[in-house]
Amino acid sequence: MATPHIAAEPGDFAPAVLMPGDPKRAERIATLLMPDARVVTDVRGMLGFTGTVDGRPLSVMGSGMGQPSITIYATELFSVFGVQRIIRVGTCGAISPAVYIGDVIIAQGAHTTSNINQLRLPGLNFSSVADFGLTCAAVDAAASLTGADAPQVHVGMVVSDDHFYLTNLDPQWWTKLAQYGVLGVEMEAAALFATANEFGKQALAVLTASDQLFDPLSKMSPEQRETRFAGALRLAVAAAFS
Ligand code: HPA
Repeated sequence: MATPHIAAEPGDFAPAVLMPGDPKRAERIATLLMPDARVVTDVRGMLGFTGTVDGRPLSVMGSGMGQPSITIYATELFSVFGVQRIIRVGTCGAISPAVYIGDVIIAQGAHTTSNINQLRLPGLNFSSVADFGLTCAAVDAAASLTGADAPQVHVGMVVSDDHFYLTNLDPQWWTKLAQYGVLGVEMEAAALFATANEFGKQALAVLTASDQLFDPLSKMSPEQRETRFAGALRLAVAAAFS
C-alpha cells in the first residue's frame, strides 16, 4: 500500500534503513553497498533502494533537507513499511573547535531551534536522544576504523537547526553552543529521534563534518569526502546490522 510520499509495498523495505539527505547520495550508497540494490520508491525523486549486504537485507533512502521532510519519510517508514531502525548518514558543520573537517560525529542526542517536537507534547522541552543500542554499536565499530584514512570519531550532542542561511545570528551563539559541548550543526536529527520515539522504533545519526564554523575557509578535499564518508558509512552499517 503506497503512502502519499512512498510508492512501495510494506515488504519492499528492509527493517534497517540508511538515510542520507540527498536521494542521489542514497543511490551512490546503495550501489556501493549492495550489488542487488533495486529501486523501491521514487515519488518526488526521493529515491529509495533495497538490497542485501552479505545476505542481510538493507534499505537506503533519501530524507530531503530539514526536519519536516525527514519527519514525513520516517513517519511513513515506521508506521506503514515495517521499518524498525533508521540511521541518518549525512554531513554537519563542526561547532566544537575539537572537531575538524572530515571528522565523524556519532550523535547521542540533538538539541533543536525548531518547534517541531514541542508540538508533539505541548509544555514539554522534549529531549531528542538517539537509540542507546545503535549508538553503542556505532561506537564499538569505530574501533575497527584504523589506518591513515580513518576519521577521528566523536560521540556527543549536535544541534538540528532550521536555518542554513541565517545572517542576523550573533556569532556568540555558536561559541556558547561549543561551550555547552555541542559538537556540530545539521538539520534533521532531532526530528528523526523524536519520530522513532513516537513509534517505539530506533534511530541514530552518523555525521561527517563538511565545514568548520570557526574556520569557514577550510573545506574537505574531494579525497577526504570519499574516504571519510566511507568511514562514517561503515559505522552506520554496523549499527544497522547490530
Ligand atoms: N548547517 C547546517 N547543516 C549543515 C551545515 C551547516 O553549517 N553543514 C553541513 N550541514
